[in-house]
Amino acid sequence: MVKDLCVLGIESSCDETGVALVQVCGQDAPVLLAHALYSQIEMHQAYGGVVPELASRDHIRRVLPLTQEVLQASGKSLQDVDVVAFTRGPGLAGALLVGAGVACAMGAALGKPVLGVHHLEGHLLSPFLSEDPPEFPFVALLVSGGHTQLMRVDGVGRYKILGETIDDAAGEAFDKSAKLLGLGYPGGPALSKLAETGNPAAFKLPRPLLHSDNLDFSFAGLKTAVMVQAKKLSIAQCCEVVALPQTTLADLAASTQAAIVEVLVKKSLAALKLTGLTRMVVAGGVGANRGLRDQLNAECGKRGVRVHYPELHLCTDNGAMIAMAAAMRLQSGQQAPTEVYAFDVKPRWPLDAIQMS
Ligand code: KG4
Ligand code: ZN
Repeated sequence: MVKDLCVLGIESSCDETGVALVQVCGQDAPVLLAHALYSQIEMHQAYGGVVPELASRDHIRRVLPLTQEVLQASGKSLQDVDVVAFTRGPGLAGALLVGAGVACAMGAALGKPVLGVHHLEGHLLSPFLSEDPPEFPFVALLVSGGHTQLMRVDGVGRYKILGETIDDAAGEAFDKSAKLLGLGYPGGPALSKLAETGNPAAFKLPRPLLHSDNLDFSFAGLKTAVMVQAKKLSIAQCCEVVALPQTTLADLAASTQAAIVEVLVKKSLAALKLTGLTRMVVAGGVGANRGLRDQLNAECGKRGVRVHYPELHLCTDNGAMIAMAAAMRLQSGQQAPTEVYAFDVKPRWPLDAIQMS
């Protein structure tokens, strides 16, 4: 039985610094007391993507003020923190080292245990912070900027990967296609906004591996198809891709989104059929996509399957999901080491390497 605990979570794997405090009372659902987030998007926009060195330096600037903010908002002090959790990987090495260094220094200074959390487990368990939390077991579709995976989830640390992308992730397909259309970085939200006014049937784009007999994905060819289509249109109209009429750009955006969403939905339905499960969780940044949510809800609704999502503001990277994953691991019996005077990060770290018995 876990005693009451206050868990501080620090996320710094990429371009968002997130800090949160979660309260654990025995085996009750952990409660989010406060969270604070600083997004570096504006800083990286000038470069069209994340610059790792700038990201690390900015995490250093933000992490302690955000921690102060979270403690103040929850009426707690550093001495009230029982466990310090941080994102150990996967992610950018330098960025991860900032969160790891700060968390381990806090643990050493306060004499409190420290727990390194898997970033994707944070995403996966983030729907447990929503008003409509799922129950185990479920099929999870994890769709972020760097990962696209379907898995069977039987409990905390009980993950079986059913299929994954063999090249680009879904978020990458959104981002790279958006860049081609002149929509800047990060492109996913911008492409999805533009798609709202476009015709998804305007252009026939490939649905990679749609009819393969496995649950793997491949999105690398899609951006090439978008590029070829965009170039054809711009040559025909004697202009740059970005100068194409807004309606054409919207049609291309809507067709791109339709291709990505159709593959994600069809493969998710196949995973549900294969496992016989009737609950589904969608997590990661692309889980914020309206088109994906609408189509998945419609198809799953027809089959009596409930789909659970994180709250919209917790779909992309944040500290709350890291504190929550740590809290759920502690409730499941994971021990957090104390006296951590050496630490490492894991820029590459498969999710099925962190199974609990
Ligand atoms: O989970 P996340 O914040 O970071 C990673 O762990 O990678 O996901 C970021 C990804 C980016 O590729 C971003 O473009 C995409 O999620 N994204 C979206 C939307 N919001 C974020 N993609 C499509 N539609 C959205 N509304
Ligand atoms: Zn993420």
